[in-house]
Parts: sequence; structure tokens; C-alpha cells
Amino acid sequence: MLMLNKAAGVFYKPSRRKTYEFLRSFNFHPGQLFLHKLVLGIETSCDDTAAAVVDETGNVLGEAIHSQTEVHLKTGGIVPPVAQQLHRENIQRIVQEALSTSKVSPSELSAIATTVKPGLALSLGVGLSFSLQLVDQLKKPFIPIHHMEAHALTIRLLNKVEFPFLVLLISGGHCLLALVRGVSDFLLLGKSLDIAPGDMLDKVARRLSLVKHPECSTMSGGKAIEHLAKQGHKLHFDFKPPMQRAKNCDFSFTGLQHVIDKIITQKEKEEGIFLIGRVGKISNPGLCLKIPVCFAGIQKGQILSSAAHIAAAVQHTTACHIAKRTHRAILFCKQRDLLPQSKAVLVVSGGVASNLYIRKALEIVTNATQCTLLCPPPRLCTDNGIMIAWNGIERLRAGLGILYNTEGVRYEPKCPLGVDISKEVGEAAIKVPPLKMKI
Ligand code: KG4
Ligand code: ZN
Repeated sequence: MLMLNKAAGVFYKPSRRKTYEFLRSFNFHPGQLFLHKLVLGIETSCDDTAAAVVDETGNVLGEAIHSQTEVHLKTGGIVPPVAQQLHRENIQRIVQEALSTSKVSPSELSAIATTVKPGLALSLGVGLSFSLQLVDQLKKPFIPIHHMEAHALTIRLLNKVEFPFLVLLISGGHCLLALVRGVSDFLLLGKSLDIAPGDMLDKVARRLSLVKHPECSTMSGGKAIEHLAKQGHKLHFDFKPPMQRAKNCDFSFTGLQHVIDKIITQKEKEEGIFLIGRVGKISNPGLCLKIPVCFAGIQKGQILSSAAHIAAAVQHTTACHIAKRTHRAILFCKQRDLLPQSKAVLVVSGGVASNLYIRKALEIVTNATQCTLLCPPPRLCTDNGIMIAWNGIERLRAGLGILYNTEGVRYEPKCPLGVDISKEVGEAAIKVPPLKMKI
């Protein structure tokens, strides 16, 4: 289609967006006419209320997000009913904002995609019931989204990444390694046996009272650890990477968290202050001395002088643990011809993937294995509406999981990703050659 530039009196080829705006002014339905797919994505699985409108070429037409991080930092963690209430208060405004900035009218949407699994039940419920009402009003198809699938596919909105590729998802609620063979075709190679790395970093940050640190007060726990680690020495404390003997691709972070907890308690005692409580007379009544009689220890909320060293050491140990499991996953996939021998792609996403130190550790692994490391930019690594809308586009294009009747749609707080072959990975017992982690 050509458009006329009236001022210049010439015809020109307009951008897709201009064409789209032009057609809309005539009340056309370009979504059907030009097969130009537009998806509204809605995310409420945890503590972010997010929405976005994305087209099939990956253009983000509109986006809005309301983060609850500040509120949860004050309560020392996510309190599900509080998260639910905040989602309720914000969802309408956030969806409206994403739609109005996109300049797409709701009737022009091809579908609505919403996270329905896994996540906090109370949070998922808000997004799902809001979406189902919208779907009903607008008479649009509904695409239920797996939160981790969306994290895994985000990279394809930005880069031309073909299947299969390996994905490492590391966030506050999840930790897994999977082979992505298609839009909804995943082989699970390993996962955390207890908590996720982001959860562990959040707990360590809370234990160190980093929210009281002037430089970290508004940061998530993981981000605060990364920030403070730059001022510390990673080898000041010698934390052993977890699961060194288990030759699989599973992860564990609770043991490390407990070791750090013990160190913090010990350091709090060591850095404790002696208060001059009273003047006491001791053994020799003739000798009157001012002595410390009351041992107080460091006050809760005070920052330890060794906090930066602890942050550096926990970040380093976490990076080494994640790097080693990922290295084994690459070797396993190559051994089984599940990935190409050279130029295989490793995608790293999830909130913890925005950690540059961990990314560098993974870069050492990909360099040693002739793989390409790809990470979405930090704002697309953490929860957002764009990844949900994009997952909707991917599913629309592949014709997968598009519902025209939403009866019986439920949210699922727990939901594995793909086919679990982690036992087979463990049985292969692949020995990972040591790498120098010079970060
Ligand atoms: O993906 P995400 O936004 O939410 C889910 O958990 O699904 O990830 C949030 C997690 C939090 O635990 C947060 O502390 C962590 O990601 N995180 C980081 C960094 N930024 C956020 N962890 C390490 N380094 C960071 N720079
Ligand atoms: Zn997430």
C-alpha cells in the first residue's frame, strides 16, 4: 500500500504502524484483513501487575506495570493477601494504560493472553478473573499462559533464535534448566530441589537488613546483593558450592542460605558493641573500674561491616553453582544430539538473570562449550506483560492453546514445565571439566 504525502505531493511506503492507524480511521479490521496479529498480555502471577500489547512482528505497542516490590520490602517478603489486594487495585488501570498507549482499540485485539500457572494462587486469581470478564465482553479468544514458558520464549521477540535451544530460568520463585524444542515443547533437565536462587538472595539480603542500607533501600534483595558485592571480596568467606557430588542438573540453595545465616549470626556477635552499663567494683574492693557489663551484640537492622564481603561471596558461590549445572546440561544435550555441536544457544532469563556477575560466569561456560549466550535486557528478564503478550503471539502463530470457550479454565499455582527427564540426566552422570571462574 502507498500513501500520499500531501505536503510533498509524493507517494511513499508507510510503516506497518502508519498503515494500521490509517486503516483504523476507516473502521476496518486490519487484524483480519492483513493477518496482523495483536495480543494483549496480562501478568499477575506474583507481585507485579503488568500488561502489554504486542504485534506479531514483536513490536511493543503499549506497556504498563505496577511493581509491589516496595510494599513487600517493608513487610519482609510477599504476603499473598496483600499482593492480591494490590493486584485488584491496579489491574484495571494497568490494562487500560497498556491499551491506551498502544492506541489499539480493544475490538482490534486478536486475543487476550494471561498467566494462569504457576504462581501465587491469590495473585493468579485476580489476573484470570479480570481477563475472563474482558474476554467475555470483547468476545475474543483466550490464551492461558505458563509463566515459565513466557520467560523462555521472550528472547525470540528480540533475536532470531530457532528451536531447539537451552534455557536457564532463574528467578525468585523458579530455577530450572530446560531444552526448548518448540513453542510448548520443553524437556526439563533439572530444577531446584528446594528454593530458587532469587528467594535465597532475598532471604540473605533481609538477614543483612540491606533495606536499611542507604544505597540499597529500594532494590530487590538480589539486586541489593549484586550492588553491595562490588564493594566486597568474593573469597573473604569460603562458601562451598552446593551439590558438588551430585552429577545431575538439579540445584539447591537452602544449605547455602543456612551456612550464610550462621556466619551472619557469628559476625553479629563479633561486631557486637559493649555498653557501659554501670560502674562496678570487682574482686579488689579497693580498685574501682569502669567495666563493660552488658553485652548487647549488633542491633537488628544495623548493617554488618562484613556485609559486602558476604554479598560478594554468596553471589560468587551462587554463580559457580548455576554455571556448573548449566555446563553439565550443555554437555548432556550435545552428547544426546539434542543441541547442535557448535553455536548452540543458551538463553538465560528470569529476575536473577539480570545479575551481571552470574551472566559473566555463564559466559565462561558458553565460551568453553562453543555456545552463544543470549539474555533479554533486565526489564524483560523480570516479570512483565510483554513476555505474556509475546507468548500469546507465539501460540497464535503455532495454533496452540487458543480457547474460544473459557468454561473450565482454572489457574494452577503449581505446574511443571514440559517433560521431566532430569532422572535420565542424573543417570548419565556427566563429569564437568573444571573451569577457572575468573570474573
Ligand atoms: O522473574 P522475577 O521478576 O519474579 C519471579 O520470581 O518470577 O524475579 C524476581 C527475583 C527476586 O528474587 C529478585 O531478588 C531477583 O529476581 N533479582 C536479582 C537481581 N534483580 C532481581 N537477583 C540477582 N541479581 C539481580 N540484579
Ligand atoms: Zn518470573
